[in-house]
Amino acid sequence: RLYGAGRRNSAGHDLSQLGVRGQFAAAVKVLDDGPAYAAGPIVSGKPETGGGDLVRMPAETGRALGAVKEADTDAIHRALDAATAFQPEWDHLGGPKRAEYLHAMADVMEANAAQLIALMAREAGKTLPDGIAEVREAVDFCRYYAQQAEHDFAGPVRLPGPTGETNHLSLHGRGVFCCISPWNFPLAIFTGQLAAALAAGNAVIAKPAEQTALTAFEAVRLFHKAGLPADALHLLPGRGETVGAALTADLRVSGVCFTGGTSTARLINRTLAGRDGPIIPLIAETGGLNGLFVDTTALREQVIDDMIISAFGSAGQRCSALRIAFLPNATADHLIEGLIGAMNELALGDPALPETDTGPVIDADARKALGAHLERMRREAKILHQLDAGRIGAEGYGFGPALVELSSLDQISEETFGPVLHILRYDPDNVAAVAAGLKAKGYGLTLGIHSRLESFHNAVKTACPVGNTYVNRSMIGAVVGVQPFGGEGLSGTGPKAGGPHYLHRFATERVVSVNI
Ligand code: SER
Repeated sequence: RLYGAGRRNSAGHDLSQLGVRGQFAAAVKVLDDGPAYAAGPIVSGKPETGGGDLVRMPAETGRALGAVKEADTDAIHRALDAATAFQPEWDHLGGPKRAEYLHAMADVMEANAAQLIALMAREAGKTLPDGIAEVREAVDFCRYYAQQAEHDFAGPVRLPGPTGETNHLSLHGRGVFCCISPWNFPLAIFTGQLAAALAAGNAVIAKPAEQTALTAFEAVRLFHKAGLPADALHLLPGRGETVGAALTADLRVSGVCFTGGTSTARLINRTLAGRDGPIIPLIAETGGLNGLFVDTTALREQVIDDMIISAFGSAGQRCSALRIAFLPNATADHLIEGLIGAMNELALGDPALPETDTGPVIDADARKALGAHLERMRREAKILHQLDAGRIGAEGYGFGPALVELSSLDQISEETFGPVLHILRYDPDNVAAVAAGLKAKGYGLTLGIHSRLESFHNAVKTACPVGNTYVNRSMIGAVVGVQPFGGEGLSGTGPKAGGPHYLHRFATERVVSVNI
């Protein structure tokens, strides 16, 4: 059964075209030469700027890109009041009308793609190909959820019933949804969350990661410019401990959508459980300890290529990224040799240059945590190779991609969020036991398999079921409507973003039965 035939995803941009490169270079120059950004809360369509924390660029920390004013208690209350008052009207509009706004949001992002991509390169250290993929994904989320709003939220559906009675089922927004988004996809996940909540009939309060509030600020301004009603979407930048905590504890919030670390998801869960008043849902997408199982039938070049992309693409800062590759005893040496050769070919550098494969990590804390992990690995395991981070820029948060050989799966139990690939030699005859060992860690996000044998695929999939399994290809870059994305266990609650069931978790169902 084919679901979603006929729908098209965004075409994106071809970076091999000189015209496209020129356009991006011009957008980066405008940003570099222009005045510093002033950003802050956007409540009822009005930006509230002035002062606030300086935004440092991951690739060049010496310069500030701008400043972001954190939402204070007053802004939080005003946004919640305005969203609460407006939501019934938004819900009443119905799915098809809301879909028109979502299509307009997609169009305005496509029209401003170069500026958004340049901003993400500077604020988040995203490479240009990653930026292109971000805009595509954000656009796809809007159009995909718009299509579902048109169909599933078009109005009540009649259900069978006895003569003399009518029964109608309809879907509605739950109220005000709080969307808390991560810095690693400052546009795509930010937009995907709020687009889903809006499509389902909710008013939205968006709380972006503090590292990437400028991108969120620009996006919300564009959405309002495209016609989205000012009170449907409010932006409240700030820290999780302050703004995030205030929002999740507030009884005016009727649902929370969160993407980020597993420990923060637990914290939000505890806050929601401790609230008086309505019981509300948490949709959480968190981390992964993602493994790749290779057997001796796998194609060497393909395996190496896919490991490089999956582990070091986006500087390893994807929840889908490959963390542990299980290599067969018989071919491990040959694979490692090829892997080191391919690592040496990676172009590390300024993310705003088209030739860069890997840019910096997001901030000083991230680099420190990665450094501490490698120190531990130096003592307890073995560092096979690490690239010199100097090539990323002397001033930036560069972290050289590293290859670590474990001697036991016990040496790692948590996600390392950055460009560190662990390998572990194993005997493919024992694959079920080894894969079960990985599953026992509790995560369930992505899984890679490289093998020509279907029996091997099945053995791995059965022993280590996860949200997204990729066979003989890379493990990152899920496409909206094609690979609905999200995990289970420590990796999140589901449902999958960009999939057919996502919107329904943002909605409440009502049935009206009439005796006529
Ligand atoms: N959706 C992203 C991917 O598939 C990860 O967050 O890589």
